[in-house]
Formats: sequence, structure tokens, C-alpha cells
Amino acid sequence: MGERITFGETDLEVSRICFGTWQLSPRFWGEQSKADILEAMNVAFDGGINFFDTADAYGDGYAEMVVGEFLADKPRDEYVICTKVFNHFNPDGSRYPDLSPKHIRERCDIQLKRLGIETIDLYLLHLFDPLTSLAEISDTLELLKDQGRIRAYGVSNHTLEQLGALRRFGDYEAVQPLYSLIATDIENGLLPYCEAHNLGVMVYSPLHKGLLTGKYTGTETFTDFRQHHPDFQGERFVKIARAVQNLRPLAEKYELSIYQLVLAATLMHPAIHVAVVGIKNADQIREALGARGKSLSREDYFAVRKILTVDGGGKIQDTKGERK
Ligand SMILES: NC(=O)c1ccc[n+]([C@@H]2O[C@H](COP(=O)([O-])OP(=O)(O)OC[C@H]3O[C@@H](n4cnc5c(N)ncnc54)[C@H](OP(=O)(O)O)[C@@H]3O)[C@@H](O)[C@H]2O)c1
Repeated sequence: MGERITFGETDLEVSRICFGTWQLSPRFWGEQSKADILEAMNVAFDGGINFFDTADAYGDGYAEMVVGEFLADKPRDEYVICTKVFNHFNPDGSRYPDLSPKHIRERCDIQLKRLGIETIDLYLLHLFDPLTSLAEISDTLELLKDQGRIRAYGVSNHTLEQLGALRRFGDYEAVQPLYSLIATDIENGLLPYCEAHNLGVMVYSPLHKGLLTGKYTGTETFTDFRQHHPDFQGERFVKIARAVQNLRPLAEKYELSIYQLVLAATLMHPAIHVAVVGIKNADQIREALGARGKSLSREDYFAVRKILTVDGGGKIQDTKGERK
């Protein structure tokens, strides 16, 4: 996975690891050191990562500003930016869904300015807005494309049915779903559909928000959003953390860390082009870089899946209702 790949049918050539910037949202992750994240972005860039993921919602624009600062001295053809639109932001900090045409156009202009670029490479609908017609949303995205303000567009957090319906109105070329080896729901429908239609797939939370890195015992407590996340609570947290520790012999067999083993295995799925990893500092991205080019034997891949089958059902359910 060291090489660049073509992202579905888009003309985007991307690294298989994408640098995620949700960590710059204090509402979810608490305050992070901007200097540490900028340093990590530079390590990523120097290490060959050219794909960066952000959103209008991350820190209410703060993440896009930091990404813009990072990109300022980088040649435009050496990076690919994915960002997302969805929320209407009120002055008091509250927000509500708004993918109405006027709002998308306005947000896109603001986002371009923050990022300091003329064209967003990949523009995603962050979530599904039930109140705007699919035709109107799609016409707006097509207009932005015609105007050169975006190069390609797609969806995040949409069901297969929502995506299928949208694709009757527009040329949606990419998806960004939740997926990790313990949250595999999309293997049943969305991933096969994407493979059949050659849509670009960039999965988010591949390390299950840190839980699959192997550093937790299940006894830790959190001050960030994980204090309310069901997989980081009580018996369930302990069970998953223990299962993750059981990956260690396989990781050692491949001379990888548990983090790297999980990342390498995640990227073996034939429909998944890219894993979007969340990064707080340079060491974390260095570890991700160490997973490039690695893959497991089929037998070991399924051994990993079996070890991570916690709670009997073959998978751990996604957390519903998360909002970024
Ligand atoms: N479209 C959407 O709705 C959506 C939703 C969520 C995320 N995303 C995107 O996907 C990205 C990744 O998602 P995520 O943040 O949930 O991802 P993740 O990669 O599953 O987890 C990231 C967390 O793991 C820990 N970590 C990272 N590297 C590590 C390492 N080498 N060793 C030990 N711990 C490490 C860090 O937290 P600690 O150090 O605190 O444990 C980090 O915050 C986000 O940044 C964002 O760009 C998109």
C-alpha cells in the first residue's frame, strides 16, 4: 500500500492512507496541540501521504483552517483534499442539517477560502439531509463541478438505499463510511455495491477510534467523546481490549505493531481503496506509515477477523447517531 491508486472512477491519484483531521474538533476530542498536528501532517506528506480529509464541521471550520495553513507552501498538484458539507451553523454554536442549494454554495465558498485553494478535489455530503430533494442537492453539486469549485463528489454516512437513490440524479463517485474490523456492517451491502460500480471508498475510524491500536486494557477512562461511546464502557470495553491484545502473536509474526496489523488487514478488502486514520501527533502517523505495503495471508486475515469477533455476532455493531 505504498503506492498511489486511482480513487474509483475519479481522476484522483491518492495514497491508501488518508490523514484525518477530525481530531481538530475540540467538541469531540478536547483541545489538541495544533503544532503537533501540523508536524504530523508534514511527516505524513514527506512520507508520501497526499490525501487529507477534513470537514466544514470539524471544529466549526478550525480544522479546515489548519489544513489550509499546512497546505499554504505545498505545490497544488501534490495533495488531494476531501472535505464535507452538511451543517447550518448558528452564532450560538448550535447547528442543524442544511443541504439546500444556496447553503451548499455558500459553504463551499467559505471552505475554499479557509483551505486557500480554488478547487476542492472531493466534496462529500457529510450526512443525509431528509429535507432537501435529491435532485436539488445533485444539481448543486453538478453546478459546483461545472464551475470548477469541486472536482468530484460523493457521500458519507449514507445508507446504500440513499446512495442508490442519489445516483439517479448525479454522478456520485465516492463514499466515506464507518468501517473497522469490529464494525463491518457495510460488508453486507454498501461495499459490494461500491466495488460493482467502481466507487472510491475511503473508510473512516479504521482503528475504531483508537480501540484497535492495542494500547487499551479496558480500564481506561476518557474525557473526550469516548466517555459516552458504548465500546469504551464497562465489560464491553474490557472484552474488546482483551481480544485486541490477542492479535499480538500475529502482529509479531509480520513484525508489525497491532495498529499496523489492523490497518494492513483493513486495506485488504477489495472494495476499500483508502483508510482515513485519525492522528494527533507525528509518532502516530509514523506508525501508520509503517503499515504500507504490508498484507497478511488469507488464513491470517481470517484469524484476525475471528479474534476480533467479540460478543458472538461476528461483529460489533456500529454506533448509531454519531454526529461530527
Ligand atoms: N465522515 C465522518 O462522519 C467521519 C467520522 C469520523 C471520522 N472521520 C474521519 O476519519 C478520520 C479517522 O477517524 P477516527 O479519528 O475515528 O480514527 P481512528 O484512526 O480509528 O482513531 C484515531 C485515534 O486513534 C488513536 N491513535 C491514532 N494513531 C495511533 C497510534 N499510532 N497509536 C496509538 N493510538 C493511535 C488516537 O487517539 P488517542 O491517542 O486519544 O487514543 C486517534 O485520535 C477522522 O480524523 C476524520 O477525518 C469521518
